[in-house]
Amino acid sequence: MTTYKLALIPGDGIGLDVTDATMEVLTAAAQRFGFELKSDVFPWSCEYYIKHGVMMPEDGIATLSKFDAIYLGAVGWPDTVPDSVSLHGLLLPIRKAFTQYANIRPHRLLPGVEGPLKCDAFDILCIRENTEGEYSGAGGRVHQGQDNEVATEVSVFTRKGVERIIRFGFEQARARRKHLTSVTKSNAQKYSMVFWDEVTREVAQEYPDVTVSHMHIDAMCAKMVMAPETLDVIVASNLFGDILTDLGAAIQGGLGFAASANICPDPAVPSMFEPVHGSAPDIAGKNIANPIAAIWSGAMMLDHLGEKDAASAVLAAVEAATLQGVGTKQGQSTTDEITAAILAALEVS
Ligand code: NAI
Ligand code: MG
Repeated sequence: MTTYKLALIPGDGIGLDVTDATMEVLTAAAQRFGFELKSDVFPWSCEYYIKHGVMMPEDGIATLSKFDAIYLGAVGWPDTVPDSVSLHGLLLPIRKAFTQYANIRPHRLLPGVEGPLKCDAFDILCIRENTEGEYSGAGGRVHQGQDNEVATEVSVFTRKGVERIIRFGFEQARARRKHLTSVTKSNAQKYSMVFWDEVTREVAQEYPDVTVSHMHIDAMCAKMVMAPETLDVIVASNLFGDILTDLGAAIQGGLGFAASANICPDPAVPSMFEPVHGSAPDIAGKNIANPIAAIWSGAMMLDHLGEKDAASAVLAAVEAATLQGVGTKQGQSTTDEITAAILAALEVS
């Protein structure tokens, strides 16, 4: 029997609840499809930071490198640890260390879910650059606390980094409706974003079967609301992709539905799977977090590991549950009820 070694980082707040829910469903899928998931749980979180002064141990990356995949719930507890510390201490280092350069975020209305737009054709795939750009971490502060204080945050766009994410986007578009929209702000940002546009045009030559549009981020926000049915695959930088995918999440009914995968295409390196949402301190511990985003991310992990049938069955079970109206409206069903409905659907599918 094939065994996959998973590193679980439940994190903070609702990250713990949705990780539990996901593992219940994935374990059931593994039993049904004849493979084994062997998980080690790592308590790296804001609580861990308070005890140890770091978000993860110094050998954290080396430890994770031995796993087939990483599953993360959500990290952040701004009351006790600044978000810039928790994000830069755990999430971003993992994405960068394992060159998980493609952050894949599917936005689609699940059956039975009514998004705010009342459209039935919402199905886009956002590919967000995940290792550089605006979140490169380059910059600094000088003269802190003085009136001549300076802060810089340098966006870093490399040819290698931009080329590979654009190419990844084209591959995805080729497997879908064959339309790619590259999102920049190249009217205002005349170096990095003009460079991104140039690279997109170069890479596009290799994909004559895919049509390409170029849009500015502000116009794209309007387009996603006004004419989402005209979009297929969107490729965007780290910051723009981050923002657009919360908009995508809202259109698909809320953050509780938005799944994501941080992919390094090299199979020797672990990729990381996590819902788009954060630790949701406002609803933590109340058993009302929607686990669907997390479970869908788990299905993406099974798919990445090569368990395509199990991945499809998990997604079909999620769809069966939402079709029955379970988990479609925030607060209507508990985390446990939604998980139970998905497990029941998985058994009969
Ligand atoms: P958030 O995503 O945690 O919450 C935003 C809003 O969406 C809240 O009202 C929350 O209740 C709701 N929400 C989120 N997930 C939900 C779910 N599964 N079911 C029902 N409602 C849900 O974003 P926020 O409040 O900006 O950040 C809270 C903390 O999470 C911060 O520390 C932030 O840095 C961190 N964060 C971590 C992320 C990660 O680990 N990947 C991503 C985003 C934020
Ligand atoms: Mg975000």
